[in-house]
Parts: sequence; C-alpha cells; structure tokens
Amino acid sequence: MTRAATRLSWLATLLIAAGCATTGSDGNDPASVPTWTTRAIPEARGEIRTLPDGKREALRYAGWAKTDFGRFRTYAYTDTRGEVPVQRATMPAGVTGDPRKGRALFLARAKGPCTGCHLIPGDDVWPAGNVGPDLSTIADRRLTDDYLYQQIYDPRLVFPQTSMPPWGATGALTPEEIVHVVAFLQTLKGPLPPEKDADRNPRPAPSPRASATTSIPRTIPPCSWPRARRPSGMRRGRRARPAPTAMPAVRPPP
Ligand code: HEC
Repeated sequence: MTRAATRLSWLATLLIAAGCATTGSDGNDPASVPTWTTRAIPEARGEIRTLPDGKREALRYAGWAKTDFGRFRTYAYTDTRGEVPVQRATMPAGVTGDPRKGRALFLARAKGPCTGCHLIPGDDVWPAGNVGPDLSTIADRRLTDDYLYQQIYDPRLVFPQTSMPPWGATGALTPEEIVHVVAFLQTLKGPLPPEKDADRNPRPAPSPRASATTSIPRTIPPCSWPRARRPSGMRRGRRARPAPTAMPAVRPPP
C-alpha cells in the first residue's frame, strides 16, 4: 500500500469510529428507531374487543365467526394457559350422519375451518391449506367411523403432538356435527378427476421445461421411470470413480 493510501484508510477508520460514538456504545440505540404502526386492517390483527356486557368478541372479516376460540390454547409463547384435557370420545348412537351437512361444516369458516389445513375435492375449496394431509380420498383407507369421530373430536389421543385442534373437546363442533363430518369424509373416494387448474394441483410443480399448459394428473402414476443412461461423454475414457460407501473417518484436531 502506498503511504497516501495508508493515511486515507486510517482517516476512514477514524471517521467510522466517530460516527458510531454518537449513537451509543453498541450502535443500537432504540430511541433512534422510528415509531412503527401496523398497516394491517383490524380484522387481520387478531384483535379481541370487550363488549359492554363484559363478553369478549373477536374482530373478524364479515361473515366470519366472532367466537373467541380462546379455550383452545394458541401457540403464542406468551399464552401460558394449560391445554384442554385430552378426551376419549364415543360416537353418539341414534344420529344419522348427513354427508351434505358434513361438507358444509367442513368448509364453514365459522366452525372448524378444516380447509385451512386440509384439501378436499371441489371448485369451491380454494384456497385450501396443506398443514394437514390431503383428505381427498380418505374413505379409500377404510377407516372406521369411530376412528374418524375420535380424530375430529380429539386427535391428540392418537397424535399427541398434532397441530390439529380438538374440535369436540373444545366445543367448537357438537357431537352431532362431528357425525355429519364423518359421514362426509366416508364419501371421499378415488380416483379423482384430473385437476383442470394447474395452480390448484397439490402435486409437486412440474419442471420448468414442461409446458405450463400440460394437464397434470392428480394421481401419481406407477413408478415407471426410464433407467438412467450414462451420459455419452462417459462411455469411453477414464472410469467414473465409485461413490464412497462409508463416511470418511473424522480426524482429531491437531
Ligand atoms: C391447524 C391445522 C388443522 C386443521 C384446521 C384441521 N386439521 Fe385435521 N389434521 C391436521 C394434521 C396436521 C393432521 C395429521 C395428524 C398429525 O400427524 O398431526 C390432521 C389429520 C386429520 C385426519 C386424518 C387422521 C388420520 O388418521 O389420518 C382427519 C380425518 C382430519 N384431520 C380431519 C379434520 C377435520 C374434519 C377438520 C375440521 C373440523 C380438521 N381436520 C381441521 C391439521 C388440521
């Protein structure tokens, strides 16, 4: 480095140091952060207001339930309430499940918004979440009504760490309503018609080389991949090194 350049770099270091010194020792003065107000509309902030009679009501989009589902513990770190106890449930006798009512309940945002996590067939089911498994053909698994009833009433009996809320145990769905949902789920059989809209296909997106207009089958075809061929350049010449079979030994630090 030339002498002039050395002097310049020293000057820069001094200037930076002087600049930092004015904003506190760690350069992280909270007073310097401009005050911030959220631009989210009230319905999206998850706010709860207290009514004159003392009841709590959630601020929601028009048509959404205003029920405060506060009985089911949220995943917020600050929510220190205990969980609703896990409940074993038996399907009530004497109630005949109505699949049409069950489907409406499955989609009802004011009830258990199942489509928030699960996909089922239908043009009106969109957007659907994928936190839970795709239930489009769950009836093909031939699960018993009792099992499905328990899964919806309180899935924690089978999946202790599940993120699916216990709809029956919290009272979000009544036993009768759950019977209707079970009747609906038992109608969901494959094979499904091919999905018309590529954007709605739950299968992995096609490679960018595939045309965007090709229709993608909703069922995975049987595995019939062509056998991998060696690239032509590798036919002659040096042999490719075989893939290592074991992890190389870890050497102790010097
Ligand atoms: C917050 C997300 C979420 C919501 C909302 C939700 N589920 Fe689930 N559900 C899951 C997850 C995750 C699983 C997979 C179980 C697991 O491993 O946790 C599941 C599994 C299931 C299963 C399959 C159980 C099995 O044994 O394969 C059924 C049936 C089901 N849910 C029904 C419903 C119904 C009906 C509703 C609406 C009343 C609903 N779910 C709402 C997340 C959700």
